[in-house]
Amino acid sequence: MTTGFNPLNAKQLAAFNDLTKDLSKEQAIWLHGFFEGRLSNTDLTGFKSNSFGVEQTDPILNLTILYGSETGNSQELAEKLAEKAFNKNIAAKVINMYDYNIDNLKDEENIAIIVSTHGEGDPPDMAEEFHKSITKKNVPGLSHLTYSVLALGDKSYKQFCKTGEDIDEAIKNLGGFRVTPIVKCDVDYELTADIWMNNLLLNLVPLESGGETDVQTVKESNEYTKQNPYLATVLEKAKITGNDSDKEVYHLELSLEESGLKYESGDAVGIYTVNPEPLVEQIIEHTGYDPEYHILLGDEEYSFYEALMHHLEITVLTYDIVKKYFEKTKNTELEKLIKNQKKLDEYLYGNDLLDILEDFPYDWNPEDLVEILRRLPARLYSISSSQDNVGEKVHATVSVVRYERKNRLRNGACSSYLADNIKVGDKVPVFIDKNPSFKLPKEDTKIIMVGAGTGVAPYRSFLQQLEINGKKGGTWLFYGDRRFNSDFLYQVEWQKWLKSNHLEKMDVAFSRDQEEKVYVQHKLLENQKEVFRWLEEGAHFYLCGDMKYMAKDVNKSLLEIVKTQGGISQKKAEEYLKNLKREKRFQQDIY
Ligand SMILES: Cc1cc2nc3c(=O)[nH]c(=O)nc-3n(C[C@H](O)[C@H](O)[C@H](O)COP(=O)(O)OP(=O)(O)OC[C@H]3O[C@@H](n4cnc5c(N)ncnc54)[C@H](O)[C@@H]3O)c2cc1C
Ligand SMILES: Cc1cc2nc3c(=O)[nH]c(=O)nc-3n(C[C@H](O)[C@H](O)[C@H](O)COP(=O)(O)O)c2cc1C
Repeated sequence: MTTGFNPLNAKQLAAFNDLTKDLSKEQAIWLHGFFEGRLSNTDLTGFKSNSFGVEQTDPILNLTILYGSETGNSQELAEKLAEKAFNKNIAAKVINMYDYNIDNLKDEENIAIIVSTHGEGDPPDMAEEFHKSITKKNVPGLSHLTYSVLALGDKSYKQFCKTGEDIDEAIKNLGGFRVTPIVKCDVDYELTADIWMNNLLLNLVPLESGGETDVQTVKESNEYTKQNPYLATVLEKAKITGNDSDKEVYHLELSLEESGLKYESGDAVGIYTVNPEPLVEQIIEHTGYDPEYHILLGDEEYSFYEALMHHLEITVLTYDIVKKYFEKTKNTELEKLIKNQKKLDEYLYGNDLLDILEDFPYDWNPEDLVEILRRLPARLYSISSSQDNVGEKVHATVSVVRYERKNRLRNGACSSYLADNIKVGDKVPVFIDKNPSFKLPKEDTKIIMVGAGTGVAPYRSFLQQLEINGKKGGTWLFYGDRRFNSDFLYQVEWQKWLKSNHLEKMDVAFSRDQEEKVYVQHKLLENQKEVFRWLEEGAHFYLCGDMKYMAKDVNKSLLEIVKTQGGISQKKAEEYLKNLKREKRFQQDIY
């Protein structure tokens, strides 16, 4: 380099040359997008599509942004991409996959797809048809089409970002031109998504086209977000399961005073946590590393202890960690485990970092070990209050994860931290996680709410809101838990609402109060005639709580109800439920 101005010092220059000398074109493009994202501070909060205050000339090209979202993240990103596109003078339209007629692909020039994966590697409901048509090639050739896919997911799931991958591959097979490679995002998706957006737009609009019209006035924002959480004071904390319960559930009230944070019934609160200290100490003891040994996580330097305590996930093993563990160790026993899907699933449920270190010994160095771990993500809790009722506060209902394995007591990172370490007056970092797909109906119509355990939390929020709205009647709660005496969460409040008719009907299933297990799905079936009548009268159906068992069983029962009571075939009943989802009359908040 011989330019007069050189902003890098000798050490940085050497590192820069070292990094850039073997870069592939793809890597260079990625870095370009990365730096552009950093420079623009990535935060366009406050800009709405119609309020950029920028004079637009004729758009230089069109971009259709399709999203498939279950809990709102992809939708939010799609809207953000549209804003960025607008700033580059691209005519962008955002469409959810429900509303998109796939035949229109033949008329598109450029499409951006943002889609999450749900269930066990399934498309979100709104992406189901699109995913099915495109993967079954029920569309004509797409060789005229330029596209890119942003896939949202969570590396703790076996089929990480599967829907995005399927769609990306399918469009490629139909002849589409991938303008930038698919990007797959883990739970902390914001920065990665931003880089993908910048790269996509850079590649759609070549620099020399003069299409750069970036807004200069990126607003300084002191808004509290997932990246900039608010330190909320704990105002109340009460254990709401009885002493003889085998579960521990806490009701928490947090202050949002002066944070400006707003939420609606159906949203979740995200809480950042620290890891259980005994586990951190046991890992340090097992590895024999100096807890003060300094390591880099991204740009930041931490002691090994700090990294384990505050920044890395150690209580949960994911597919991704096990895969990376094997890539490094080449342990043949681990290889056998990875090849046996069922055994691997069993291993992942309930084992932590210390287990894998003990079970598959390897002479790790601290840098390599932290490299395979992911950042400690916030945990989400369905909000159990209505902001119109509680003002600048938010309530959450937290079930504590505790279990014993190999003579070691295991504590869920966040739930046990809230239960054991946090007291009234302490502060916890929080943000609001919007969920536009779990919302009370706008119109005055009946609602059926089904939830088990903490799955009942959002319905407390719903009822607080409905009471404020003055709605009486037309509300039905199916609630399930283990035992009437010790596990009936918020019992007094439901009774109050039953008395005032804000809650018209309530059916409960306490699974362990009798020989035979009774669950909410059984209660639905018992009441099938009336449930179907409510649905036919336009009722909205809500389902919240456990994904693995309850949600599946309730879906099955509902199908059965529609089939039997509607006197229709299995196929027609499936179509009926699909339509309910399409019309946003069947909404799920399952985890
Ligand atoms: C949209 C959404 C809403 C949610 N709402 C709520 C809510 O309202 N209330 C609520 O309590 N939670 C809710 N959750 C779950 C919550 O986010 C956390 O996942 C939960 O609190 C556990 O987190 P943790 O950090 O305590 O445990 P972690 O440290 O994450 O440990 C969990 C791990 O422990 C293991 N494990 C758990 N139980 C057992 C067991 N019995 N035997 C063996 N292994 C086990 C499993 O491997 C599991 O992955 C919600 C999740 C989502 C995505
Ligand atoms: C019940 C549930 C199941 C999920 N299943 C998967 C999965 O199989 N694979 C995956 O990569 N991510 C999975 N995820 C993670 C979501 O894809 C991730 O949270 C994403 O950010 C959601 O985006 P959305 O709000 O646009 O739907 C799951 C999330 C939930 C709550």
